[in-house]
Amino acid sequence: MNLALKSPEPRSGILDIAAYVPGKEIAPGLAKVHKLSSNETPLGASPRAIEAFQKAAFNLERYPDGQANALKEAIAAVHGLNAANILCGNGSDELLGLLCQTYLGPGDEGIVTQHGFLVYRIQIAASGGTPVTVSERDERVDVDAIIAAVTERTRIVFIANPGNPTGTYVPVDEVRRLHAALPAGALLVLDAAYAEYVRRNDYEAGLELVSSNRNVVMTRTFSKIYGLAGLRIGWMYAPRDVVEALDRVRGPFNLNAPAIAAGAAAIRDQAFIAEAGDHNQKWLAIVSQALTKIGLRVTPSVTNFVLIHFPAEAGMSAGDADSYLTSRGFILRAVGAYGFPNALRMTIGTKEANEGVVAALTEFMGRK
Ligand SMILES: Cc1ncc(COP(=O)(O)O)c(C=O)c1O
Repeated sequence: MNLALKSPEPRSGILDIAAYVPGKEIAPGLAKVHKLSSNETPLGASPRAIEAFQKAAFNLERYPDGQANALKEAIAAVHGLNAANILCGNGSDELLGLLCQTYLGPGDEGIVTQHGFLVYRIQIAASGGTPVTVSERDERVDVDAIIAAVTERTRIVFIANPGNPTGTYVPVDEVRRLHAALPAGALLVLDAAYAEYVRRNDYEAGLELVSSNRNVVMTRTFSKIYGLAGLRIGWMYAPRDVVEALDRVRGPFNLNAPAIAAGAAAIRDQAFIAEAGDHNQKWLAIVSQALTKIGLRVTPSVTNFVLIHFPAEAGMSAGDADSYLTSRGFILRAVGAYGFPNALRMTIGTKEANEGVVAALTEFMGRK
C-alpha cells in the first residue's frame, strides 16, 4: 500500500461543516450524575414501550417492515391523520437530512435562524446548498426577517417551533403569515420536536398547515417526551408528493424492528405522556422562578428546558458555572455554538436534579 498517495477528497464544502457536538454525558470522578444536557425526559419510556421492545428481541433475525406500517398506523390513529401522509425516520435528524438531500442542491438556499437547531445548517451544507442565517429578535424567531431573506433561490425554510435552545415559540398566526409570504417552490419545515410540552392556546405544531398546503411539512420525535432517544425514532407529516420523494431517497429499512414496535406502543400510551407533561409543567415553572430569584435571566420557555444567562457584567461566566455544576454531578449544555457564549441550557429533570441545580447555582451566585 502506498500511503504517500492522497486520500479521496470529500465533495466541495463538506470539510467546511462544523461537526455536531452532542451534550456531555459524564462528570469525571463522580459515580452519580444528572444528565440534563440533551433534553431527555427524566421519566423514561412508557412500560408498554419497554415491553414491546423486549418482545421484539425474539425476532432479530428478520428485517423490519421497510414501511414501518405499525408505527405509522399508531401515529395516524392517535393524531387523527392519514397514514399515507406520514414518513418515519431514524430520529427526526434523518428526516431533516433527507429533506435537504431531496430538495436542495448547489446554488440553492436554505434559510435557518440565528439560534436555530444546528442540524439544519449541517444538512443544508452537506447537500451542497447554501445556509442563509437570519437574525432572531429577543431570542424568538423573527418572521419578518425570514421573509426579507427569501430569494428566488430559496428552496427550504427551517424553523424549530418551539426553538432549541431558546425554548420560545412562534404563535400559529405568525407561522401562517410566514407561510403566506413564501413562494410555492419553497418548502417550509416546521420542526416540532418539543410540541408535546407546549401549553399555549396560540400554538399549533403544524398539522392544519400541512393538511391544507403542498409546501409545508412538520417533523416530530420520540426522543423527548416519549423517552425513546436511544432508539432513534422521528416522523414527518407531509403532503403525499413529499412523502413519495423522500421514500425514494431513504434507506429501505431506516427504522429497526424494536424501534417500530416500541414507538407504536409508546404513542398509544397517552396517559403516560400526560404524566410526563404534567411533571414538566410543574418543574418548568418552579425552576424558572427559582433561577430568576437568584439573579439569573431565564428565557421564558414552553419546552422541557430553560436557557440560563449568566451576567457577564458581574464577572459570571457560563464556563465557570458549567465547571461548578459538573463537579457536583449536574451536566448542563454549553450553547456557545448556538450563539449564546454566556448561557447554559438545562433540561428539566427529576425533583432531585432540579432542586440540586437550583441549590448549586444559588451557591455559585453567592460566591461572587
Ligand atoms: C429542535 C430539534 N429538532 C430535532 C431534534 C432531533 O431529534 P431526534 O432525536 O428525533 O433526531 C432535536 C434534538 O435535540 C431538536 O432539539
